[in-house]
Amino acid sequence: MDTDEATAAPHASVDGTGPLLDVRDVAVHFPIRRGLILDRTIGHVYAVDGVSLRIHRGETYGLVGESGCGKSTLGRAILRLEKPTFGEVWFDGRDIAPLKGEELRTMRRRFQMVFQDPMSSLDPRQSVEGMLMEGLKAHGLSRGPEADRARLRELVEQVGLPAAALRRYPHEFSGGQRQRIGIARALCVEPDLIVADEPVSALDVSVQAQVLNLLGRLQDELGLTYLVIAHDLAVVRHVSDRVGVMYLGGLVEEAPSQALYDEPLHPYTRALLSAIPVPDPELEDRRERILLTGDLPSPAAPPPGCRFHTRCPWRQPERCDTERPELRVVEGTVGGHRVACHYAEQIRSGTLQPHKVEPAVAEDVLGPGAVPDQPGSVTEILGR
Ligand SMILES: Nc1ncnc2c1ncn2[C@@H]1O[C@H](COP(=O)(O)OP(=O)(O)OP(=O)(O)O)[C@@H](O)[C@H]1O
Ligand code: SF4
Ligand SMILES: [Mg+2]
Repeated sequence: MDTDEATAAPHASVDGTGPLLDVRDVAVHFPIRRGLILDRTIGHVYAVDGVSLRIHRGETYGLVGESGCGKSTLGRAILRLEKPTFGEVWFDGRDIAPLKGEELRTMRRRFQMVFQDPMSSLDPRQSVEGMLMEGLKAHGLSRGPEADRARLRELVEQVGLPAAALRRYPHEFSGGQRQRIGIARALCVEPDLIVADEPVSALDVSVQAQVLNLLGRLQDELGLTYLVIAHDLAVVRHVSDRVGVMYLGGLVEEAPSQALYDEPLHPYTRALLSAIPVPDPELEDRRERILLTGDLPSPAAPPPGCRFHTRCPWRQPERCDTERPELRVVEGTVGGHRVACHYAEQIRSGTLQPHKVEPAVAEDVLGPGAVPDQPGSVTEILGR
């Protein structure tokens, strides 16, 4: 899907003035295969299907959406860990798709990933020192034993661990400490962009805030740019300058964090936000609650027209079922608030009112014997 902002402005520029990351109409479709003897492709999982977004230098962009909506796949496509089916990813003024060899290695150093589960992403047989040294060496950043030791000490201290942590192994740390090591590993190659995929969802609530605060402090100190992926809206709100909301492979709304939480315009975002309880009991009783009925459709058979029309309480005849809405800036909003809904203005003004939605049975497109390349993730049904 194309966007007003993305088409109007030029690509990110190499002179450091444009956005650091420019994702243009990116799609990732995974083939679905059937047959034991003859392996045939019988369809595709449209995990990411036409996403355009930009992330500016020093910014934190939060990406939210239900499980399976394509957040991680988009993150992986940005880091070139997944090849986009179509679309382009520009990093610091360069299209990363044609890069090879040394150029690719140099570019790879500049974007790093922090994973949800630090235990499974850290090698249990390697000490912290060994792990960080490996990162330095892989990217030609080793400066001799003494300088390297000083650098490693600085790194663990930066993430709030004592220098003694260097000699220890992943299993000797708590979950929060392991995530700090994961962050140190990402930092050791001096990246510009960090894609953090659910960085705190495996941690206890009390530890979550510490790790989020650490990410914030490191951003201030090192001028980092973040893409933070999370299903937890509170986490995203806490850390993000701007937030993008995904639904079934597409971006349905994007706005500065405060604007999105103050005035969500897309029906899906409204439903997401209305599901979060507020601490004030009076306000809790008065506020609008939008319960979504029906299952999240399969990304192997996304509905035609607006992807959200099977669950949308504002759905209008014909257009919603047939025409996919573009992500566009809604006039009169602040900070380039973009929404993919034909009726965003009418919903905003209250001219259109929500109605009841009859739950529809999700279509089983795969049929017996068909397997996606990887099992589907569990669908979290909102409003249950
Ligand atoms: N390698 C793959 N092959 C086939 N399908 C895949 C592959 N990776 C992801 N998918 C499918 O693509 C869709 C999007 O998955 P993705 O992991 O990007 O979602 P997500 O938003 O990160 O979900 P979660 O919140 O559960 O992490 C899902 O239906 C998933 O099953
Ligand atoms: S385009 Fe139609 S179905 Fe889609 S969100 Fe807007 S009102 Fe709902
Ligand atoms: Mg994910």
